[in-house]
Amino acid sequence: MFARMFRTKPITHHSQSGLRKCLSAFDLALLGIGCAIGTGIFVLTGIAAATLSGPAVVLSFIFAGIASAFAALAYAELASSVGGSGSAYGYSYVAFGEFAAWIIGWILLLEYGVGAAAVANGWAGYFVNTLANFNLHLPEVWTKAPSLGGIINLPAFGIIWVLTILLISGVKQSAQVNNTIVIIKLSTIAIFLAIASMHLNSSNWHPFMPFGWFSTLADGKTTGVLAGASLVFFAYFGFDAVSTAADEAQNPQRDLPIGLLASLTFCTIVYILVSGALTGIVSYTDLNVSSPVAHALTKLGYTWSSTLVATGVLAGLITVLLVLLYGLTRILYAMSRDGLISPFFSAIDPSRQTPVRIILMCGFIISLIAGFFPLGELAETVNIGTLASFVMVCVGVIVLRIRQPDLHRPFKNPWNPLIPVLGIASCLALMAFLPSATWHRFLVWIVIGVVVYFIYSVRHSKLIPNE
Ligand code: ALA
Repeated sequence: MFARMFRTKPITHHSQSGLRKCLSAFDLALLGIGCAIGTGIFVLTGIAAATLSGPAVVLSFIFAGIASAFAALAYAELASSVGGSGSAYGYSYVAFGEFAAWIIGWILLLEYGVGAAAVANGWAGYFVNTLANFNLHLPEVWTKAPSLGGIINLPAFGIIWVLTILLISGVKQSAQVNNTIVIIKLSTIAIFLAIASMHLNSSNWHPFMPFGWFSTLADGKTTGVLAGASLVFFAYFGFDAVSTAADEAQNPQRDLPIGLLASLTFCTIVYILVSGALTGIVSYTDLNVSSPVAHALTKLGYTWSSTLVATGVLAGLITVLLVLLYGLTRILYAMSRDGLISPFFSAIDPSRQTPVRIILMCGFIISLIAGFFPLGELAETVNIGTLASFVMVCVGVIVLRIRQPDLHRPFKNPWNPLIPVLGIASCLALMAFLPSATWHRFLVWIVIGVVVYFIYSVRHSKLIPNE
Protein backbone atom coordinates (compact mmCIF):
# COMPACT_ATOMS: atom_id res chain seq x y z
CA MET A 1 0.00 0.00 0.00
CA PHE A 2 2.73 2.48 0.92
CA ALA A 3 4.65 1.72 -2.26
CA ARG A 4 1.51 2.61 -4.17
CA MET A 5 0.88 5.85 -2.31
CA PHE A 6 4.36 7.17 -2.97
CA ARG A 7 4.81 6.03 -6.56
CA THR A 8 5.83 9.01 -8.66
CA LYS A 9 5.06 9.67 -12.28
CA PRO A 10 7.83 9.90 -14.84
CA ILE A 11 7.93 13.16 -16.80
CA THR A 12 6.23 12.81 -20.17
CA HIS A 13 6.14 15.79 -22.44
CA HIS A 14 2.94 17.38 -23.56
CA SER A 15 2.62 14.94 -26.38
CA GLN A 16 -0.30 13.10 -27.90
CA SER A 17 -3.05 13.95 -25.44
CA GLY A 18 -5.65 14.12 -28.22
CA LEU A 19 -6.33 17.77 -27.37
CA ARG A 20 -5.75 20.44 -30.00
CA LYS A 21 -2.54 22.54 -29.68
CA CYS A 22 -3.88 25.93 -30.60
CA LEU A 23 -3.11 28.43 -27.81
CA SER A 24 -0.33 31.03 -28.21
CA ALA A 25 1.56 32.86 -25.40
CA PHE A 26 -0.77 35.82 -25.94
CA ASP A 27 -3.86 33.57 -25.63
CA LEU A 28 -2.38 32.11 -22.43
CA ALA A 29 -1.72 35.52 -20.86
CA LEU A 30 -5.26 36.61 -21.70
CA LEU A 31 -6.51 33.33 -20.25
CA GLY A 32 -4.82 34.24 -16.94
CA ILE A 33 -6.10 37.83 -17.02
CA GLY A 34 -9.55 36.63 -18.04
CA CYS A 35 -9.70 34.40 -15.01
CA ALA A 36 -8.05 36.63 -12.46
CA ILE A 37 -9.71 40.05 -12.84
CA GLY A 38 -13.22 39.53 -11.54
CA THR A 39 -15.14 39.21 -8.30
CA GLY A 40 -11.99 39.87 -6.28
CA ILE A 41 -11.41 43.37 -7.57
CA PHE A 42 -14.99 44.28 -8.50
CA VAL A 43 -16.75 43.01 -5.35
CA LEU A 44 -14.35 41.95 -2.59
CA THR A 45 -12.34 45.20 -2.70
CA GLY A 46 -15.36 47.00 -1.31
CA ILE A 47 -16.04 44.43 1.39
CA ALA A 48 -12.37 44.29 2.40
CA ALA A 49 -12.05 48.09 2.49
CA ALA A 50 -15.23 48.56 4.52
CA THR A 51 -14.75 45.73 7.02
CA LEU A 52 -11.09 44.62 7.17
CA SER A 53 -8.49 46.99 5.75
CA GLY A 54 -9.94 50.48 5.21
CA PRO A 55 -8.13 52.47 2.46
CA ALA A 56 -5.09 50.29 3.23
CA VAL A 57 -6.81 47.65 1.07
CA VAL A 58 -4.15 48.74 -1.44
CA LEU A 59 -1.57 47.21 0.92
CA SER A 60 -3.70 44.07 1.21
CA PHE A 61 -3.54 43.73 -2.58
CA ILE A 62 0.22 44.26 -2.55
CA PHE A 63 0.80 41.58 0.11
CA ALA A 64 -1.45 39.08 -1.65
CA GLY A 65 0.30 39.96 -4.92
CA ILE A 66 3.76 39.31 -3.44
CA ALA A 67 2.72 35.82 -2.25
CA SER A 68 1.22 35.14 -5.68
CA ALA A 69 4.37 36.33 -7.44
CA PHE A 70 6.56 33.83 -5.59
CA ALA A 71 4.04 31.11 -6.43
CA ALA A 72 3.92 32.26 -10.08
CA LEU A 73 7.69 31.86 -10.38
CA ALA A 74 7.39 28.32 -8.98
CA TYR A 75 4.53 27.58 -11.38
CA ALA A 76 6.58 28.90 -14.28
CA GLU A 77 9.50 26.59 -13.48
CA LEU A 78 7.32 23.51 -13.12
CA ALA A 79 5.05 24.34 -16.06
CA SER A 80 8.05 24.69 -18.34
CA SER A 81 9.93 21.61 -17.13
CA VAL A 82 7.22 19.16 -16.04
CA GLY A 83 4.18 20.35 -17.98
CA GLY A 84 0.99 18.34 -18.31
CA SER A 85 -2.54 19.70 -18.11
CA GLY A 86 -3.11 18.89 -14.45
CA SER A 87 -1.52 22.04 -13.02
CA ALA A 88 -0.32 21.63 -9.40
CA TYR A 89 -1.81 18.15 -9.52
CA GLY A 90 0.48 17.03 -12.34
CA TYR A 91 3.59 18.55 -10.72
CA SER A 92 2.86 16.87 -7.38
CA TYR A 93 2.51 13.51 -9.12
CA VAL A 94 6.04 13.87 -10.44
CA ALA A 95 7.57 15.44 -7.33
CA PHE A 96 5.89 13.75 -4.36
CA GLY A 97 4.00 10.72 -5.62
CA GLU A 98 0.43 9.70 -6.05
CA PHE A 99 -1.13 10.33 -2.66
CA ALA A 100 0.02 13.94 -2.41
CA ALA A 101 -1.00 14.46 -6.04
CA TRP A 102 -4.47 13.13 -5.30
CA ILE A 103 -4.87 15.44 -2.31
CA ILE A 104 -3.75 18.43 -4.37
CA GLY A 105 -6.06 17.41 -7.22
CA TRP A 106 -8.87 17.12 -4.68
CA ILE A 107 -8.08 20.62 -3.35
CA LEU A 108 -8.00 22.00 -6.89
CA LEU A 109 -11.47 20.59 -7.52
CA LEU A 110 -12.71 22.53 -4.49
CA GLU A 111 -10.87 25.64 -5.61
CA TYR A 112 -12.07 25.70 -9.21
CA GLY A 113 -15.51 24.18 -8.65
CA VAL A 114 -16.51 26.25 -5.63
CA GLY A 115 -14.73 29.26 -7.15
CA ALA A 116 -16.87 29.01 -10.29
CA ALA A 117 -20.04 28.68 -8.21
CA ALA A 118 -19.01 31.72 -6.14
CA VAL A 119 -18.29 33.87 -9.18
CA ALA A 120 -21.58 32.77 -10.78
CA ASN A 121 -23.27 34.11 -7.67
CA GLY A 122 -21.40 37.42 -7.96
CA TRP A 123 -22.36 37.59 -11.64
CA ALA A 124 -26.02 36.95 -10.77
CA GLY A 125 -25.95 39.83 -8.27
CA TYR A 126 -24.66 42.30 -10.91
CA PHE A 127 -27.12 40.86 -13.45
CA VAL A 128 -30.12 41.41 -11.19
CA ASN A 129 -28.91 44.95 -10.33
CA THR A 130 -28.35 45.86 -13.97
CA LEU A 131 -31.80 44.60 -14.96
CA ALA A 132 -33.24 46.66 -12.10
CA ASN A 133 -31.54 49.77 -13.58
CA PHE A 134 -33.65 49.15 -16.67
CA ASN A 135 -36.76 48.68 -14.52
CA LEU A 136 -36.86 44.92 -14.99
CA HIS A 137 -37.38 43.25 -11.64
CA LEU A 138 -37.02 39.48 -11.24
CA PRO A 139 -39.02 37.85 -8.39
CA GLU A 140 -36.67 37.49 -5.41
CA VAL A 141 -37.43 33.81 -4.83
CA TRP A 142 -35.83 33.04 -8.22
CA THR A 143 -32.69 35.06 -7.54
CA LYS A 144 -31.70 33.84 -4.07
CA ALA A 145 -30.41 30.63 -2.52
CA PRO A 146 -32.76 28.82 -0.10
CA SER A 147 -30.72 29.90 2.96
CA LEU A 148 -31.35 33.54 1.96
CA GLY A 149 -35.10 33.02 1.66
CA GLY A 150 -35.36 32.14 -2.05
CA ILE A 151 -35.98 28.92 -4.00
CA ILE A 152 -33.03 28.94 -6.39
CA ASN A 153 -30.64 31.52 -7.83
CA LEU A 154 -31.70 31.01 -11.43
CA PRO A 155 -29.33 33.50 -13.11
CA ALA A 156 -26.35 31.82 -11.38
CA PHE A 157 -27.65 28.37 -12.36
CA GLY A 158 -28.31 29.47 -15.95
CA ILE A 159 -24.98 31.21 -16.63
CA ILE A 160 -23.10 28.01 -15.73
CA TRP A 161 -25.08 26.08 -18.35
CA VAL A 162 -24.51 28.71 -21.05
CA LEU A 163 -20.74 28.45 -20.50
CA THR A 164 -20.83 24.66 -20.29
CA ILE A 165 -22.29 24.56 -23.80
CA LEU A 166 -19.64 27.02 -25.01
CA LEU A 167 -16.84 24.83 -23.64
CA ILE A 168 -18.28 21.74 -25.30
CA SER A 169 -18.19 23.51 -28.65
CA GLY A 170 -14.36 23.56 -28.60
CA VAL A 171 -11.45 25.28 -26.91
CA LYS A 172 -10.38 27.64 -29.69
CA GLN A 173 -13.82 29.19 -29.89
CA SER A 174 -13.73 29.61 -26.15
CA ALA A 175 -10.30 31.25 -26.23
CA GLN A 176 -11.50 33.69 -28.90
CA VAL A 177 -14.58 34.60 -26.86
CA ASN A 178 -12.30 34.98 -23.84
CA ASN A 179 -9.94 37.34 -25.68
CA THR A 180 -12.79 39.58 -26.83
CA ILE A 181 -14.39 39.82 -23.40
CA VAL A 182 -11.06 40.52 -21.69
CA ILE A 183 -10.71 43.58 -23.91
CA ILE A 184 -14.22 44.76 -22.94
CA LYS A 185 -13.36 44.23 -19.27
CA LEU A 186 -10.13 46.21 -19.51
CA SER A 187 -11.93 49.06 -21.29
CA THR A 188 -14.42 49.14 -18.42
CA ILE A 189 -11.58 49.46 -15.94
CA ALA A 190 -10.01 52.21 -18.04
CA ILE A 191 -13.29 54.18 -18.01
CA PHE A 192 -13.51 53.81 -14.23
CA LEU A 193 -9.92 54.93 -13.70
CA ALA A 194 -10.33 57.91 -16.03
CA ILE A 195 -13.40 59.18 -14.17
CA ALA A 196 -11.92 58.39 -10.75
CA SER A 197 -8.71 60.31 -11.51
CA MET A 198 -10.76 63.52 -11.76
CA HIS A 199 -12.40 63.02 -8.35
CA LEU A 200 -9.66 61.79 -6.04
CA ASN A 201 -9.93 63.32 -2.59
CA SER A 202 -7.03 62.54 -0.31
CA SER A 203 -9.17 63.02 2.82
CA ASN A 204 -10.84 59.69 1.92
CA TRP A 205 -7.50 57.99 2.58
CA HIS A 206 -7.59 59.11 6.26
CA PRO A 207 -7.58 57.17 8.48
CA PHE A 208 -5.54 54.87 6.28
CA MET A 209 -5.57 51.77 8.51
CA PRO A 210 -8.70 52.01 10.69
CA PHE A 211 -8.63 48.28 11.55
CA GLY A 212 -4.87 47.98 12.22
CA TRP A 213 -2.63 45.23 10.91
CA PHE A 214 -4.31 42.14 12.29
CA SER A 215 -6.50 40.93 15.13
CA THR A 216 -8.70 37.93 15.87
CA LEU A 217 -12.22 38.60 17.11
CA ALA A 218 -14.07 36.58 19.77
CA ASP A 219 -16.08 34.62 17.16
CA GLY A 220 -12.93 33.39 15.36
CA LYS A 221 -13.25 35.97 12.58
CA THR A 222 -10.19 38.02 11.68
CA THR A 223 -9.71 41.68 10.79
CA GLY A 224 -6.98 44.16 9.74
CA VAL A 225 -4.86 44.69 6.64
CA LEU A 226 -3.44 41.16 6.73
CA ALA A 227 -6.88 39.54 7.07
CA GLY A 228 -7.85 41.78 4.13
CA ALA A 229 -4.90 40.36 2.19
CA SER A 230 -6.10 36.81 2.73
CA LEU A 231 -9.59 37.80 1.49
CA VAL A 232 -8.56 39.84 -1.57
CA PHE A 233 -6.16 37.05 -2.46
CA PHE A 234 -9.24 35.71 -4.25
CA ALA A 235 -8.53 38.35 -6.90
CA TYR A 236 -5.26 36.62 -7.83
CA PHE A 237 -6.64 33.13 -7.95
CA GLY A 238 -7.01 32.12 -11.57
CA PHE A 239 -3.77 33.21 -13.19
CA ASP A 240 -2.53 29.67 -12.43
CA ALA A 241 -5.27 28.36 -14.76
CA VAL A 242 -2.72 29.15 -17.48
CA SER A 243 -0.77 26.09 -16.40
CA THR A 244 -3.80 23.82 -16.84
CA ALA A 245 -3.75 24.60 -20.56
CA ALA A 246 -0.30 23.05 -21.15
CA ASP A 247 -1.65 20.29 -23.37
CA GLU A 248 -3.27 22.84 -25.65
CA ALA A 249 -0.38 25.32 -25.80
CA GLN A 250 1.56 25.59 -29.07
CA ASN A 251 4.93 25.85 -27.34
CA PRO A 252 4.39 25.12 -23.62
CA GLN A 253 8.04 25.37 -22.49
CA ARG A 254 8.38 28.93 -23.67
CA ASP A 255 4.82 30.21 -23.61
CA LEU A 256 3.66 29.02 -20.17
CA PRO A 257 6.17 31.05 -18.12
CA ILE A 258 5.45 34.09 -20.30
CA GLY A 259 1.70 33.65 -19.92
CA LEU A 260 1.89 33.17 -16.14
CA LEU A 261 4.21 36.04 -15.31
CA ALA A 262 2.68 38.49 -17.78
CA SER A 263 -0.85 37.94 -16.49
CA LEU A 264 0.16 38.22 -12.83
CA THR A 265 2.16 41.42 -13.31
CA PHE A 266 -0.63 43.00 -15.29
CA CYS A 267 -3.28 42.08 -12.71
CA THR A 268 -1.22 43.41 -9.79
CA ILE A 269 -0.87 46.82 -11.43
CA VAL A 270 -4.59 46.95 -12.22
CA TYR A 271 -5.54 46.00 -8.64
CA ILE A 272 -3.33 48.67 -7.09
CA LEU A 273 -4.78 51.32 -9.38
CA VAL A 274 -8.43 50.29 -8.99
CA SER A 275 -8.37 49.80 -5.21
CA GLY A 276 -6.44 53.05 -4.70
CA ALA A 277 -8.89 54.94 -6.93
CA LEU A 278 -11.99 53.39 -5.37
CA THR A 279 -11.00 54.30 -1.82
CA GLY A 280 -9.86 57.72 -3.05
CA ILE A 281 -13.21 58.77 -4.53
CA VAL A 282 -15.59 57.67 -1.74
CA SER A 283 -15.24 56.86 1.94
CA TYR A 284 -14.29 53.24 2.60
CA THR A 285 -17.32 53.03 4.91
CA ASP A 286 -19.61 53.32 1.83
CA LEU A 287 -18.17 50.32 0.02
CA ASN A 288 -19.80 47.32 1.70
CA VAL A 289 -22.18 46.72 -1.23
CA SER A 290 -22.46 44.03 -3.94
CA SER A 291 -21.29 46.35 -6.75
CA PRO A 292 -18.85 48.85 -5.16
CA VAL A 293 -17.31 50.16 -8.39
CA ALA A 294 -20.69 50.99 -9.97
CA HIS A 295 -21.94 52.27 -6.61
CA ALA A 296 -19.02 54.71 -6.27
CA LEU A 297 -19.65 56.08 -9.77
CA THR A 298 -23.36 56.54 -9.01
CA LYS A 299 -22.41 58.43 -5.83
CA LEU A 300 -20.30 60.79 -7.90
CA GLY A 301 -23.30 61.39 -10.18
CA TYR A 302 -22.10 59.35 -13.18
CA THR A 303 -25.24 57.24 -13.53
CA TRP A 304 -24.82 56.18 -17.16
CA SER A 305 -21.14 55.37 -16.64
CA SER A 306 -22.15 53.32 -13.65
CA THR A 307 -24.51 51.21 -15.78
CA LEU A 308 -21.86 50.92 -18.50
CA VAL A 309 -19.25 49.79 -16.00
CA ALA A 310 -21.70 47.30 -14.44
CA THR A 311 -22.33 45.84 -17.90
CA GLY A 312 -18.57 45.54 -18.49
CA VAL A 313 -18.20 43.83 -15.12
CA LEU A 314 -20.89 41.33 -16.15
CA ALA A 315 -18.88 40.51 -19.26
CA GLY A 316 -15.70 40.38 -17.17
CA LEU A 317 -17.12 37.90 -14.71
CA ILE A 318 -18.14 35.66 -17.62
CA THR A 319 -14.50 35.28 -18.65
CA VAL A 320 -13.58 34.40 -15.07
CA LEU A 321 -16.24 31.72 -15.05
CA LEU A 322 -15.20 30.43 -18.43
CA VAL A 323 -11.58 29.96 -17.41
CA LEU A 324 -12.46 28.45 -14.03
CA LEU A 325 -14.74 25.89 -15.68
CA TYR A 326 -12.13 25.25 -18.34
CA GLY A 327 -9.45 24.66 -15.69
CA LEU A 328 -11.73 22.42 -13.66
CA THR A 329 -12.53 20.18 -16.62
CA ARG A 330 -8.86 19.89 -17.54
CA ILE A 331 -7.81 18.91 -13.99
CA LEU A 332 -10.57 16.29 -13.86
CA TYR A 333 -9.52 15.10 -17.30
CA ALA A 334 -5.94 14.60 -16.10
CA MET A 335 -7.08 12.76 -12.94
CA SER A 336 -9.39 10.54 -14.97
CA ARG A 337 -6.66 9.77 -17.51
CA ASP A 338 -4.49 8.63 -14.58
CA GLY A 339 -7.26 6.30 -13.33
CA LEU A 340 -7.73 8.15 -10.01
CA ILE A 341 -11.30 8.92 -11.02
CA SER A 342 -13.33 6.81 -13.44
CA PRO A 343 -11.84 6.60 -16.98
CA PHE A 344 -15.41 6.99 -18.26
CA PHE A 345 -14.81 10.73 -18.00
CA SER A 346 -11.60 10.99 -19.99
CA ALA A 347 -13.12 10.15 -23.37
CA ILE A 348 -12.44 12.90 -25.90
CA ASP A 349 -15.23 13.61 -28.35
CA PRO A 350 -13.60 12.95 -31.77
CA SER A 351 -15.35 15.70 -33.71
CA ARG A 352 -15.12 18.51 -31.14
CA GLN A 353 -11.83 17.34 -29.57
CA THR A 354 -13.04 18.25 -26.08
CA PRO A 355 -13.70 15.98 -23.05
CA VAL A 356 -17.47 16.29 -23.37
CA ARG A 357 -18.54 14.00 -20.52
CA ILE A 358 -16.37 15.82 -17.97
CA ILE A 359 -17.62 19.20 -19.11
CA LEU A 360 -21.24 18.08 -18.79
CA MET A 361 -20.65 16.60 -15.34
CA CYS A 362 -18.99 19.82 -14.13
CA GLY A 363 -21.79 21.93 -15.57
CA PHE A 364 -24.36 19.80 -13.78
CA ILE A 365 -22.72 19.89 -10.33
CA ILE A 366 -21.50 23.49 -10.39
CA SER A 367 -24.84 24.83 -11.61
CA LEU A 368 -26.52 23.19 -8.61
CA ILE A 369 -23.96 24.60 -6.15
CA ALA A 370 -24.30 28.03 -7.78
CA GLY A 371 -28.10 27.87 -7.65
CA PHE A 372 -28.46 26.67 -4.08
CA PHE A 373 -25.57 28.14 -2.04
CA PRO A 374 -24.85 31.83 -1.31
CA LEU A 375 -21.61 33.59 -2.27
CA GLY A 376 -20.44 34.52 1.23
CA GLU A 377 -20.06 30.94 2.42
CA LEU A 378 -17.89 30.01 -0.55
CA ALA A 379 -15.17 32.65 -1.13
CA GLU A 380 -12.78 32.11 1.79
CA THR A 381 -12.95 28.34 1.37
CA VAL A 382 -11.65 28.83 -2.15
CA ASN A 383 -8.74 30.94 -0.88
CA ILE A 384 -7.50 28.40 1.64
CA GLY A 385 -7.48 25.73 -1.08
CA THR A 386 -5.63 27.95 -3.52
CA LEU A 387 -3.01 28.90 -0.94
CA ALA A 388 -2.49 25.25 -0.02
CA SER A 389 -1.92 24.34 -3.66
CA PHE A 390 0.52 27.27 -4.07
CA VAL A 391 2.47 25.97 -1.06
CA MET A 392 2.68 22.52 -2.63
CA VAL A 393 3.90 23.93 -5.94
CA CYS A 394 6.68 25.82 -4.14
CA VAL A 395 7.66 22.69 -2.18
CA GLY A 396 7.56 20.80 -5.48
CA VAL A 397 10.22 23.08 -6.99
CA ILE A 398 12.59 22.39 -4.09
CA VAL A 399 11.95 18.63 -4.08
CA LEU A 400 12.41 18.28 -7.83
CA ARG A 401 15.67 20.24 -7.79
CA ILE A 402 16.95 17.60 -5.36
CA ARG A 403 15.39 14.50 -6.93
CA GLN A 404 15.96 15.40 -10.57
CA PRO A 405 18.85 17.90 -10.66
CA ASP A 406 19.52 17.29 -14.37
CA LEU A 407 15.97 17.87 -15.58
CA HIS A 408 15.82 20.29 -18.52
CA ARG A 409 14.41 23.54 -17.05
CA PRO A 410 13.74 26.15 -19.75
CA PHE A 411 12.70 28.55 -16.96
CA LYS A 412 14.64 28.43 -13.69
CA ASN A 413 14.10 30.37 -10.45
CA PRO A 414 17.20 32.32 -9.48
CA TRP A 415 18.87 31.91 -6.03
CA ASN A 416 17.31 28.49 -5.41
CA PRO A 417 15.72 27.71 -2.94
CA LEU A 418 15.09 31.31 -1.82
CA ILE A 419 12.08 32.07 -4.03
CA PRO A 420 10.08 28.91 -3.26
CA VAL A 421 10.89 29.23 0.46
CA LEU A 422 9.55 32.81 0.44
CA GLY A 423 6.52 31.52 -1.48
CA ILE A 424 5.84 28.85 1.15
CA ALA A 425 6.22 31.32 4.03
CA SER A 426 4.02 34.01 2.49
CA CYS A 427 1.23 31.62 1.46
CA LEU A 428 1.21 29.91 4.87
CA ALA A 429 1.00 33.34 6.49
CA LEU A 430 -2.02 34.27 4.39
CA MET A 431 -3.64 30.95 5.34
CA ALA A 432 -3.02 31.73 9.02
CA PHE A 433 -4.92 35.03 8.67
CA LEU A 434 -8.12 33.25 7.55
CA PRO A 435 -10.97 32.66 10.04
CA SER A 436 -11.18 29.37 11.98
CA ALA A 437 -14.48 28.34 10.31
CA THR A 438 -12.69 28.37 6.95
CA TRP A 439 -10.04 26.03 8.33
CA HIS A 440 -12.71 23.63 9.60
CA ARG A 441 -14.44 23.43 6.20
CA PHE A 442 -11.10 22.88 4.50
CA LEU A 443 -10.08 20.05 6.83
CA VAL A 444 -13.43 18.29 6.33
CA TRP A 445 -12.89 18.41 2.54
CA ILE A 446 -9.41 16.90 2.94
CA VAL A 447 -10.71 14.05 5.12
CA ILE A 448 -13.35 13.20 2.47
CA GLY A 449 -10.57 13.20 -0.14
CA VAL A 450 -8.46 10.77 1.87
CA VAL A 451 -11.43 8.40 2.20
CA VAL A 452 -12.17 8.51 -1.55
CA TYR A 453 -8.50 7.82 -2.31
CA PHE A 454 -8.41 4.65 -0.23
CA ILE A 455 -11.82 3.41 -1.37
CA TYR A 456 -11.38 4.01 -5.11
CA SER A 457 -8.30 5.74 -6.47
CA VAL A 458 -5.47 3.69 -5.01
CA ARG A 459 -6.95 0.54 -6.58
CA HIS A 460 -7.68 2.00 -10.01
CA SER A 461 -4.56 4.07 -10.60
CA LYS A 462 -2.86 3.33 -13.92
CA LEU A 463 0.60 3.96 -12.52
CA ILE A 464 2.92 1.00 -11.89
CA PRO A 465 4.61 1.26 -8.44
CA ASN A 466 8.24 2.41 -8.64
CA GLU A 467 10.79 -0.39 -8.41
N1 ALA B 1 -9.69 35.91 -9.31
C1 ALA B 1 -11.02 35.66 -9.71
C2 ALA B 1 -11.94 36.74 -9.29
O1 ALA B 1 -11.51 37.72 -8.75
C3 ALA B 1 -11.49 34.32 -9.30
O2 ALA B 1 -13.11 36.64 -9.50
